Amino acid sequence: MEKVFFNGEFVAADDAKVSYNDRGYVFGDGIYEYIRVYNGKLFTVTEHYERFLRSAGEIGLDLNYDIDQLIELSRKLVDINNINNGAIYIQATRGVAERNHNFPTPAVDAAIVAYTKSYDRPFDHLENGVNAVTVEDIRWLRCDIKSLNLLGNVLAKEYAVKYNAVEAIQHRGETVTEGSSSNAYAIKDGVIYTHPVNNFILNGITRRVIKDIADDYEIPFKEEAFTVDFLKNADEIIVSSTSAEVTPVIKLDGEVVNDGQVGPITRKLQQGFDKAIATRSI
Ligand code: PDD
Repeated sequence: MEKVFFNGEFVAADDAKVSYNDRGYVFGDGIYEYIRVYNGKLFTVTEHYERFLRSAGEIGLDLNYDIDQLIELSRKLVDINNINNGAIYIQATRGVAERNHNFPTPAVDAAIVAYTKSYDRPFDHLENGVNAVTVEDIRWLRCDIKSLNLLGNVLAKEYAVKYNAVEAIQHRGETVTEGSSSNAYAIKDGVIYTHPVNNFILNGITRRVIKDIADDYEIPFKEEAFTVDFLKNADEIIVSSTSAEVTPVIKLDGEVVNDGQVGPITRKLQQGFDKAIATRSI
């Protein structure tokens, strides 16, 4: 049976039982990461665990693990479960304590769970593009923290599914922020635009890879907020995430983008991403 990392041990998946008093379950009081595995190797894993530790710090959660330990346990999990292409999900909560909103006193150990999943790259979406819709961003004001509280994201994604779309691109008023589980980009006149890194978006690891690729290919990459109207008039639209990679959007709110064709800059970024898989997996 598949093994799960559960509070310091590798146990059979069926034996990983979480208390009803776990603060992640009760309050969503915790953080997570989602890391891609390509050919048995961890993609941009250091960047993911740096962000994990940053998220922990931002919510005052003591993890007692450093990056090397987190990478080591991840490798072990991938090996034990024999994952070739897939991902690791890891989360840490503020532990198990009787229900009180304030932090437990005395503090209890963080509860850490990590498991693997096996799946292939999203070749169909990468090749043919996907539909997206726009939706008001109703989330809290610390979207830079990869928090377990995902209700706003869940509702946005469900809205997308209801309208036969793969992703919902969110906006606060007129300003486009990010997808429900991705970063969003508008490409216009050869320039890639995406929301700047601040509290309104998650600082996506795939976004950083895309920025590096754009630099390599000398494609201007502007971290500037843009409007829904600008997005609707873009030459190309992309969403990116650990699982979506560089996914082209070919229809937005029912309107075809770039005659329904995947554009040339998107294709270049995808080529760069294929190379990054080889160079940035360890
Ligand atoms: N989601 N923005 C949001 C709100 C996200 O949830 C994600 C990723 C991203 C992209 O981040 P990255 O490139 O580091 O994966 C941006 C993950 C995949 C998830 O929730 O499963």
